[in-house]
Amino acid sequence: MNMMNEAKWWQTAVIYQIYPRSFADGNGDGIGDFAGIISKLDYLKALGIGAVWLSSHYPSPQVDYGYDISDYRGVAPEYGTLDQFKEFLEQAHRRDIRVILDMVLNHTSDKHPWFVESRSSLDNPKRDWYIWKKGRGNQPPNDWYSTFGGRAWELDPTTGEYYYHYFFKEQPDLNWNNPEVRQAMWSAVRFWLDMGVDGFRLDAVGTIFEEPSWASHGQPYTSEDLYCIERLAKTDQEKQDALCKWETVFHNQYDQPGVHELMQELRSIVDGYKDRVLIGETDDISYYGHGDDELHMVFNFPLMRVNHLTPHHVLTNQQGRLSQIPVGGWPCNTFGNHDTSRSYSHFGDGVHDAALARQQLVLLLALKGTPVLYNGEEIGMTDYLIRAPSLFRDPLNTYGYRLEMEVLGSSPEQAVWYSAERGRDKCRTPLQWDHTANGGFCPADITPWLPVNPNYAEGVNVADQEKDPGSLLNFYRQAVNVRQQTPALLYGNYTLLETENSDVLAFLRETQEQSVLAVFNFSERRQAVKLSQVGKFSHVLFSTSQPGGDRVTASCLSLQPYEACLILLD
Ligand code: NOJ
Repeated sequence: MNMMNEAKWWQTAVIYQIYPRSFADGNGDGIGDFAGIISKLDYLKALGIGAVWLSSHYPSPQVDYGYDISDYRGVAPEYGTLDQFKEFLEQAHRRDIRVILDMVLNHTSDKHPWFVESRSSLDNPKRDWYIWKKGRGNQPPNDWYSTFGGRAWELDPTTGEYYYHYFFKEQPDLNWNNPEVRQAMWSAVRFWLDMGVDGFRLDAVGTIFEEPSWASHGQPYTSEDLYCIERLAKTDQEKQDALCKWETVFHNQYDQPGVHELMQELRSIVDGYKDRVLIGETDDISYYGHGDDELHMVFNFPLMRVNHLTPHHVLTNQQGRLSQIPVGGWPCNTFGNHDTSRSYSHFGDGVHDAALARQQLVLLLALKGTPVLYNGEEIGMTDYLIRAPSLFRDPLNTYGYRLEMEVLGSSPEQAVWYSAERGRDKCRTPLQWDHTANGGFCPADITPWLPVNPNYAEGVNVADQEKDPGSLLNFYRQAVNVRQQTPALLYGNYTLLETENSDVLAFLRETQEQSVLAVFNFSERRQAVKLSQVGKFSHVLFSTSQPGGDRVTASCLSLQPYEACLILLD
């Protein structure tokens, strides 16, 4: 099989996630927008990416910053107009950058006209578009919780019934058992596909259906208990136990019957268009279906969700997933997004952060599958912990602060630190474009929607790094470029190599024409690596520690601390 001819754009492209509120502010109001994004398309092109995944850009009351949509066919006015969106799409396409939108299927905003109608009376034609139930006496319909805290049920005084919400109460779940809901949502999907967008990242696919009998979870824990158990967990074992408890409480609320048929329905719509892609916000391999009838990709979140990357973790992760993904399915790897710690902070150790960031990038680009970058990681943006609760924007920060103060008895200083650490504001601060006030994101006299991380003044900004050949930004550009020029890295097979050295990871990526050896030293010491399986003659394609082009003996290597090295085998 000649993969070169058959590979799809979404298999070979590096995808870059834009969080529109924080990416680039074109009109100087402290909020990112389409004018800003359009002005940065050349920057993205120079980075070598082939597609943008745009976090939710739709009109929204912004309780959950776009993930509470009030109109599936529009653009949030603070981000621009539909015409500006079209301009963005056209300008991106002109540069061979594909555009993947976010699509939130599970829920709408409570301000969406559908919900406003639905809640207005028991016999409103849209009543059944959402999930309404009677309470048990003055208790909610069952004992389920919202994953964002508190009950999953909100009593609506107009009709005296409760509606179900897996996320915030401002995000009522749609009733996907209602055929009109399917029709309305599929028509929104077609609206964007007809316009020419290249696919969707599907938000929270796992939570679309609920256990049909609404059975009790039967657990003694409240959502506040779960927060506290997880927050107090110190050892890996305690953290694992906390996760197990969460799963037993929520098991009726995700991955329920019906969801795979629904994904098949959506896939058949998308397959009616040329070359579009569906990426699920889930790590569950079952969403690949038979490899060609559900989602094209799901995220490999388990790779990202460890505190420290080790060769053992990476290789067990790869062994587990690559063998399970059905033929036709394609892996998708990432180290960060708008819901989680920034990778520079998460995987850094405070001493070797710069080296670790480079190593992770090479790993991400060398693993089999499509790499997804999160905006700002290319300049080493770090988590920024906001120090005043009044500046919190994510309701999860605020929720955490309340629990810290009222339930865990933390001091105000501890409470603000822990809630900032656990909330999502920390990874959503504005992009740092230069070293002027506000990191060049917006004018000096404007307050950005979230504070800018002050480390913009210490070199963590685009303009300074563009000028510095040794910067992380230039490293990203070179590494992405090498990947894009190397067929074996784009679609070669993956073979793990035994190294007898627990600090070293080695694998091959191979097409019929090309073999690339990827080796990584995960330690702060030099490591000698013997690889009997590979031939002798080779040269360095790309390395964090040595110039490309040098001849090396691949079977007997000496790796610098934290070196990541790609070697072309002759
Ligand atoms: C996942 C999104 O990434 C997150 O930001 C959002 O809060 C939830 N889904 C609910 O839509």
